[in-house]
Formats: sequence, C-alpha cells, structure tokens
Amino acid sequence: MTEAVQTSSPFTPRVFSGIQPSGGLTLGNYLGAMKRFVDMQDEGSFQTVYCMVDQHAITVWQDPEKLRHATRELCAGFIAAGIDPDRSILFNQSQVPEHAQLAWIFNCVARMGWMQRMTQWKDKAGKNQQNASLGLFAYPALMAADILIYHATHVPVGEDQKQHLELTRDVAIKFNHDYGVDFFPITEPVIEGAATRVMSLRDGSKKMSKSDPSDASRINMTDDADTIAKKIRKAKTDPDALPSEAKGLEDRPEARNLVNIYAALADSSVDAVLAEMGGKQFSEFKPILSELAVEKLAPISTEMARLMQDPAEIDRILGHGATQARELATPILKKTYDIVGMISS
Ligand code: TYM
Repeated sequence: MTEAVQTSSPFTPRVFSGIQPSGGLTLGNYLGAMKRFVDMQDEGSFQTVYCMVDQHAITVWQDPEKLRHATRELCAGFIAAGIDPDRSILFNQSQVPEHAQLAWIFNCVARMGWMQRMTQWKDKAGKNQQNASLGLFAYPALMAADILIYHATHVPVGEDQKQHLELTRDVAIKFNHDYGVDFFPITEPVIEGAATRVMSLRDGSKKMSKSDPSDASRINMTDDADTIAKKIRKAKTDPDALPSEAKGLEDRPEARNLVNIYAALADSSVDAVLAEMGGKQFSEFKPILSELAVEKLAPISTEMARLMQDPAEIDRILGHGATQARELATPILKKTYDIVGMISS
C-alpha cells in the first residue's frame, strides 16, 4: 500500500495511467503496468482512471487502420486483464479533448531544456532530431496533462516512465508557483513489484519492447501457448544454475530477467522464488516458467480474442468511459483557465 494515501492531502486518492496503442501489448506492459492497474482497482482505496493514449502514439507515424485496431485491442486487453469498466474509468485519450487543451497550457509552463533532457526523446529521435515531430518533443507535457487533468495523486508505471513522472511533478510545481496557487497535486509515481523493467528475451541489457524488430525478444499478450513456450525455451541464458539468493543474480541480466518474470507472474518475490528454485539448471527452470506463463497469460489472450469479435461493444465502452472522464476533467480545465486568466464559457 502506498503511504501517501494515509496523508492529509486535499486531493481525492486517484490513480491515472496510460498505455500507447502503438502495436500490440507485451508481457512488459502487462507485468510492469497493467497488472498493477488491476491491483490498484481491486484494492479499492483509489478511484482508478485508465487511458489508451492514442495522441501519444501518433507522435511517431501510425497507419490509421492499424491505430484504430490497436486501440480497440488495447481496450480488450485492459478488460481481459481484469479492468472492470464499471469500477474503473476506461477510455481513449482523443475522445477527451481536455487532455490536449491542458497540454497547450503546459507547453507554455514547461521549458525547452526540460524536454531536451528526456532520455526517451533522445532515444526515439536518435541522431536526426531535426526530423522528429514536434509532438514527440512535447510528449512529456501531454503526459503531464493526462495525469493532472484528473488531479491524479498516484501513477503506476514501469521504470522507463520515471523521468516523465518527475517532469510531471516539475510542471505542477512550476504552475502552482508561477500562478501563486496550490492547484495541481504533486503526483506520486508507483513503480513497484518484481517486474518494473522486463528485459528482452534475446538481450538482457535491452528493455522488452513492442518496437523491437525481433518478435522472439518479447512475449506478446496475443501469443498462443505454443509460441509462449517456444520463446521461453529459446530465451538467452547463461550456463550456470540458479542461485539461492538475489545477490547471485548480479551480473547475470538474462537469469535475473527470467526470475523477475517468474516472481511477478506468481505474485511472489525474487527471494521467495530463489529459495525454492535455487540450484536448478535453466533446462529445468524454463519449462516451469513456461507452464506458469501459459497458465496466467493464455486466458487473457483468449478473452481478448473473444472481446475483439464485437468491436461495437468496445466502442460503446470507450464512449461511456470518455463521458465519465470528461465529467472529472471539465471542471479542472475550467478552473485552470480561470487561474491563467482565460475567459472560460
Ligand atoms: P508505454 O505505452 O510505452 O507502456 C505502457 C506501460 O508499460 C510499461 N512498460 C514496461 N514495464 C516494465 N518492463 C517493460 N519492458 C515495459 N515496457 C513498457 C511502461 O512503463 C508503462 O507504464 N508515456 C507512456 C504512456 C503514457 C502515460 C501517461 C503513462 C502517456 N500518458 C500518463 C502514465 C501516465 C508510455 O509510452 O507507455
């Protein structure tokens, strides 16, 4: 349980997080983010708001038909993983225009230097920054708007989003300071669990990612049981047996990654897993991991496929979620406009 909930914050305990519909969901998205989203929904101490961030996705080129499909599939993924649209607000970013409206104001609060320091910008823009979209550069300001348009207090994410969340705090602090208000909350990142950074199955120094050209590097949430088992069997490892303590995983990135994945899937800890599995060779451990992965993931992919047979129902859920999201966002945007000196209707 995150400690800030018990403090006397004037803000309603509210969780916001988002996932880009830029290709399929990976095991990294599931263990690093979505599984935590479900836990926080089920804990019941927060109002939970989850978003498909299609406006973030188009900061790099997306084929329109694929984007639409990926957005619906992501929505199906949220539901199949355990997000209940009756208990969480589940919606698509572009259907709630308040995100982009607040982002413009934050574009005027955030500084160029802040954006230039973002490692994700540097990684994604690469050597050819002049040719990257302006949206990719301003991406973190939109992300701050996603969170702060709901006055969200907690944001569960994987490790790779930490720097963006620090920038979100900086935006809130600077806005509050510049306008002499205490209006936006200083959001707490929630980066917890055994798998906050799931690595590639082919290279333990690289993050598991939907954009990796090698499909063998990742487990997709749509992979069937045979594919999952095959990818785990082929995952890169080292020749040593598993250690009995976490310290023994230092300098063994691939081994550590598979143990982290096992621990996260089993809702256990690395220490507990190693206490049980220490001494086993990978030839023994991989089939055990495969069996657990198939047991946990196959029902999700089956349910996703079932939900995808009724896209109209998915669109209805997204429409309903957008209406609920706007009910929260509209008064916060109006108050922001008042603070800034804009005449709001
Ligand atoms: P995105 O779409 O890249 O990833 C969605 C979530 O999955 C986590 N994640 C991982 N966690 C562990 N190991 C991995 N290999 C891995 N890969 C991805 C990410 O950390 C993330 O939590 N900028 C965000 C989307 C976003 C957002 C927001 C998030 C937009 N607005 C507001 C939170 C709040 C992104 O690109 O995530």
